[in-house]
Amino acid sequence: MTELAVEATGLTKYFEAFQAVDHVTLKVPAGSIYGVLGPNGAGKTTSLRMTLGIIDPDEGTSRLLGGHKPQAVRHRIGYLPEERGLYPGMKAREAIAFMGALRGLDWSEGRRRAATFMTELGLERVIDEKIRKMSKGMAQMVQLIGSIVHAPDLIVLDEPFSGLDPVNQERLEMLVRRERDRGATILFSTHVMAHAERLCDRLAIIARSQRRFEGTVDEARALLPMQVRYTPREQGEAVAALLPAGAEHKGEAWHFAIEENDVEPLLARITASGHGVAGLSIARPALHDAFVHIVRQVDAGFDATPQADAVEEAAA
Ligand SMILES: Nc1ncnc2c1ncn2[C@@H]1O[C@H](COP(=O)(O)OP(=O)(O)OP(=O)(O)O)[C@@H](O)[C@H]1O
Ligand SMILES: [Mg+2]
Repeated sequence: MTELAVEATGLTKYFEAFQAVDHVTLKVPAGSIYGVLGPNGAGKTTSLRMTLGIIDPDEGTSRLLGGHKPQAVRHRIGYLPEERGLYPGMKAREAIAFMGALRGLDWSEGRRRAATFMTELGLERVIDEKIRKMSKGMAQMVQLIGSIVHAPDLIVLDEPFSGLDPVNQERLEMLVRRERDRGATILFSTHVMAHAERLCDRLAIIARSQRRFEGTVDEARALLPMQVRYTPREQGEAVAALLPAGAEHKGEAWHFAIEENDVEPLLARITASGHGVAGLSIARPALHDAFVHIVRQVDAGFDATPQADAVEEAAA
């Protein structure tokens, strides 16, 4: 069995009568990049906080890095919280060294690593700039570096990409991969599917307080049928008879969804028909589509359940 860096089981949290997290389990294989995805208010941050022992769950347990209680391994963990904040009067280099020192890193080593990280990430001009003079995105990059400067074994990042420009987003992706290659495990939350799609070995989708999906990016994408766009060489209404019900004619092309197993029979029908192929694309839906599909399904079920409304009213 794969070793788990995070084994959080059945995490549950109530805020007054509102159940913010409902028996969420997160099992993150050591050395992997793991995404927690979900809409606003789904319970991602609360789940991460319980996983790290920052808040106590009402039910459930969290064990990290080989079965330890979170507090017992805090020096081996790096955490970027959702609420950002550094001391505005500190210079970037000191702020990073300070965060490292809180997790047991030698001060001068922290200063040295701070300069290396900042240079690698294109921030060398502001190494000795005070935090208060930095832009929001720059300060966030500094805080990110501060959260990993002590070379933690487990890195937990709550929405690390939000607020960063595309260049810094790319640098952060690079940094996440490099930390993984160093042997660290990375657990991060995001709403941005593109990052999750590129980075995650596995992911969980949380919606309305519960985990609704767990698996690889490909497994998530395979929840939905393939998307086909077909342009016949010979147009004509007879084309529709070759295609699944519900195929839509847009301009020259037909758009429809099809299960993977039906692709080859479809190609055979088209070939035999003599309508020919002027254009054909068959694509797996993106993670974005799978995410929207799952969240909509959950919302639809929720809206139809009278008890769910009662919970919402109680929470309001
Ligand atoms: N301290 C708190 N007191 C009361 N309610 C809370 C508290 N923290 C979170 N909640 C509620 O719990 C639910 C889950 O919040 P959480 O912050 O975990 O969501 P999230 O998935 O991280 O959302 P976002 O994508 O917006 O960051 C929300 O409805 C939120 O209003
Ligand atoms: Mg959050």
